[in-house]
Amino acid sequence: MSSLPWREAWQAALYGPDGFYRAEPGPVGHFTTSTHGPLGAVFAEAIAALADREGATHVVDVGAGRGELLVALHRGRPDLDLTGVDVVDRPTALPGSVRWLVSPGGAELPTDLVDLDGVLVVAHEWLDVVPCTIVEVLDDGTPRTVSVDAGARTESLVGELSPKDAAWCAAHWPMDGMPRRGHRVEVGLARDRAWSDLVSRVRRGTLLAVDYGHTRDTRPPSGTLVGYRDGTAVPALPDGTCDLTAHVAVDSLEQDERWTQREALHRLLGRPGVPDHALATTDPAAYVAGLARAGALRALTAPGGLGDFHWVVRRCGRLTG
Ligand SMILES: C[S@@+](CC[C@H](N)C(=O)[O-])C[C@H]1O[C@@H](n2cnc3c(N)ncnc32)[C@H](O)[C@@H]1O
Repeated sequence: MSSLPWREAWQAALYGPDGFYRAEPGPVGHFTTSTHGPLGAVFAEAIAALADREGATHVVDVGAGRGELLVALHRGRPDLDLTGVDVVDRPTALPGSVRWLVSPGGAELPTDLVDLDGVLVVAHEWLDVVPCTIVEVLDDGTPRTVSVDAGARTESLVGELSPKDAAWCAAHWPMDGMPRRGHRVEVGLARDRAWSDLVSRVRRGTLLAVDYGHTRDTRPPSGTLVGYRDGTAVPALPDGTCDLTAHVAVDSLEQDERWTQREALHRLLGRPGVPDHALATTDPAAYVAGLARAGALRALTAPGGLGDFHWVVRRCGRLTG
């Protein structure tokens, strides 16, 4: 394969006909997120609590994987309307009442995802897999876009920055004063546009993007692009055999509020506390369930881990009184 700008090679590797995200077993086979396993039920509880707070009766999960969050939401809150959106056909394990839309992938969304009303739209770890332009600074300070040749496993610094990418960098990730050799910028414009496109599809409701990322004060100096396969971080190679992800510039997304996951979950679910010990004798099953819930809440809010994820909130129209 010849050399392609990273954004194009990344799009083909994840969402092309043989793309990584089209293959079974899906994301859950390669990495763990807050929506999986024992954490998923508590995370779903927080999403349902946010939906209630925002006055939403319908949760739309964009980048729904194989429906893990939707299954947990349906189990805990069967009264909520649920819709999943991802690049694969409807997963067989989904309850019959859950709607499903097939999406092109990356920054592209389905045409029939429009005019949403009364919704909480959740994009959990979607934006980090929306391909973006990668820029590296030459020794003389000139920024160049990075291209990649998956077959030869090589990169080249050949392209000029587009005026729009350059304007985004000037506004959000200026390169002056940065150490030159090897300094990389993952240009957030494609993520900002994808997010704004999703926002434009909501008439009345709240949107929530949850992701790992950085802000103006914490931009990474040499890039975060990495691959994941079978639970392990691997070199980023756009050959369809691994996930490709880069942290999100969360402060450049259009937003009304931004919290850490720790702040959000403490606000929505309270602080993790152990159940009353007396329950251990009166209702041992409830006691064990309470301990498990406290453990999951602790993991979801852990400093240096999932608790540092960003929750970006955008509201459209007016739902709550
Ligand atoms: C990192 S995984 C996260 C999956 C799930 N939200 C979770 O947290 O476990 C990203 C998911 O986003 C999906 N995705 C990427 N672009 C999409 C798009 N434009 N529309 C819908 N889903 C998309 C991928 O197919 C993949 O399932």
